[in-house]
Amino acid sequence: MDITVVGSCMTDLVSYVPRLPVPGETLHGHKFNIGFGGKGANQCIAASRLGSKTAMVAKVGCDTFGQNYLNNFKQNGIISDYVTTTSDAMTGAAPIFVDDKGQNSIVIVAGANLKLSVHDINAAKDIIIGSKVLITQLEIKRDVTLEAMKIAKQAKVILLQKLSLEMNIRDDEILLDKDHIGLLVTTIFNPAPAVEYLQPEFYTLSDYFCPNETETEILTGIKAIDRESIQAACNALLDKGCKNVILTMGDQGAAFCSQNNRTVENVTVEKVKVVDTTGAGDSFIGSLAFYLSNMPHLSLSEIVKRCCRIASVSVTAEGTQTSFPKQENLEKELFD
Ligand code: RIB
Ligand code: NA
Repeated sequence: MDITVVGSCMTDLVSYVPRLPVPGETLHGHKFNIGFGGKGANQCIAASRLGSKTAMVAKVGCDTFGQNYLNNFKQNGIISDYVTTTSDAMTGAAPIFVDDKGQNSIVIVAGANLKLSVHDINAAKDIIIGSKVLITQLEIKRDVTLEAMKIAKQAKVILLQKLSLEMNIRDDEILLDKDHIGLLVTTIFNPAPAVEYLQPEFYTLSDYFCPNETETEILTGIKAIDRESIQAACNALLDKGCKNVILTMGDQGAAFCSQNNRTVENVTVEKVKVVDTTGAGDSFIGSLAFYLSNMPHLSLSEIVKRCCRIASVSVTAEGTQTSFPKQENLEKELFD
């Protein structure tokens, strides 16, 4: 398995409107669509469209939305053995407004997503440990997300101990050994939607901590708008113990830094015709997982550039998963 995603499934109920309504207002919309969404599933689909072998761990309701979602996973070639159902809540739903500028506002009603339990995660332990990359977000219960991240990192410890015994070398020597690095589970954590406080382990268990500007501001109290403030926000996140920070900034591109090289590098993105930005962040995260698992020889700088490019393609089409490009529809250079 290349990638396992532990996270949410939502049915997106998307209304295209001239502008976002204000309280008490009734507004005519142009169009309505029902689509497959939820940050977890979106990231999973985004990675699989690029060619990764992916699995999903999630919970849907015993309703038609849930049934349709299971079919959606099958149709997209996602391993969905660990997508279970509950009769205690409805499948997650997300009413979304998209205005004429392509900007959105989203309400999520997590429903069945909140019924995914620590027990469910433990049942999926083998698939998590057997993956190169684990992706998590915050649309399911926090302790459930954390459990998945802990399992991924325990796998690392157990594996390192086993290898060091077998090879009679130290743990830290193995970490430097390129042939074995691929065996370890890399964790990508997307702290979305935004929260004010995260337990320290969310940082220490993250190889890649990937917020957007809003999430960064809420977590650090710093508005990342220029080189200085971006560096300050990234420093604050690195200080909490994550290995790498990748900050996504919409049409401003992305910025990244790591414990080894704290100086932030900025990646800009070419202007495109924006139709619908919903899910652009998920397209970025799914692409990141694809590159880390399938093309790990690339530098982080190159990976972030390519992820920005793919996410920018996703904003030129309507919807979330409907807008995620397949490898064959993207420039060849993105996969060299
Ligand atoms: O990131 C976009 C997603 O956020 C939507 O698909 C919606 O379901 C919410 O989870
Ligand atoms: Na889109």
